[in-house]
Amino acid sequence: MATATLIDGKNFAARLRTSIAAHVARLKTDYGMTPGLAVVLAGEDPASQIYVRNKGLQAREAGMNSFECRLPATVTQAELLNKIAELNRDPAINGILVQLPLPRQIDSQTVIQSIAVGKDVDGFHPLNAGLLAVGGTAMVPCTPLGCLMLIKDQVGDLAGQRVVVLGRSNIVGKPMAALLLREHCTVTIAHSRTRDLADECRRADILIAAVGKAHMVKGDWIKPGATVIDVGINRIPTPDGKGRLVGDVDFAAASEVAGAITPVPGGVGPMTIACLLLNTLTAACRQHGVPAPEVKPVPA
Ligand code: GUN
Repeated sequence: MATATLIDGKNFAARLRTSIAAHVARLKTDYGMTPGLAVVLAGEDPASQIYVRNKGLQAREAGMNSFECRLPATVTQAELLNKIAELNRDPAINGILVQLPLPRQIDSQTVIQSIAVGKDVDGFHPLNAGLLAVGGTAMVPCTPLGCLMLIKDQVGDLAGQRVVVLGRSNIVGKPMAALLLREHCTVTIAHSRTRDLADECRRADILIAAVGKAHMVKGDWIKPGATVIDVGINRIPTPDGKGRLVGDVDFAAASEVAGAITPVPGGVGPMTIACLLLNTLTAACRQHGVPAPEVKPVPA
């Protein structure tokens, strides 16, 4: 009975944050600058509130300045755009993140496009997405960047690897595919309209699931020995009413087949915030015209 290696994203992210904190401390002593991250939350979505609180906490733990902008669920588009314009102008703010989803009356694309490209630490601005596609210096979306770090740590050189990315969102699927192409992988993006989805997945040396459907990927969708990255965070009901977080992959079955697999929770999730801090550090360096450090996690 084969059991996959567990890819410990929680530990990797903690080691990355330690390294980021050391770089932040050095920027302070060498250049007298402290990276500043502004997180904008409109409305009271409970999951978003938890994410936003964690982003602020971890930014401060890394030695950065953190600014939280809370707006009511009834905020108008003009008010939100005004807030972003103010943050764009503020030299103490190096990174701006607008937590998604936004209230119904707001057009997310207009909001994303109003963020200064150099402060777009989510990497969602179309100019950053375009730079990623054509190979320029982009802000890379945090979740795909975190996945790539875990995959490289596990697999090493990715040239020629067959990768299937399940999901085509602007936040994960599309930028993930662009990043992997940059690593010389053979990339397939599969989605809800893909024919013979299980067969496509079975061809993958590396399978990345980002669809938001609990346990959608079955054990027999996985090629023996493959590396499986589970981006899904789905709450399923439990008898005690508290619910439980599970991924897009049937973990118990998949870990009998895969070579390596990320758990949920404790896999990709912690990497997303660590990469947000990394992007904020990079943005601050670029804005101050100082070399952006190459940040590697401290050794295990
Ligand atoms: N909502 C869910 N994931 C994300 C993310 O990575 N960035 C932002 N801004 N909102 C999100």
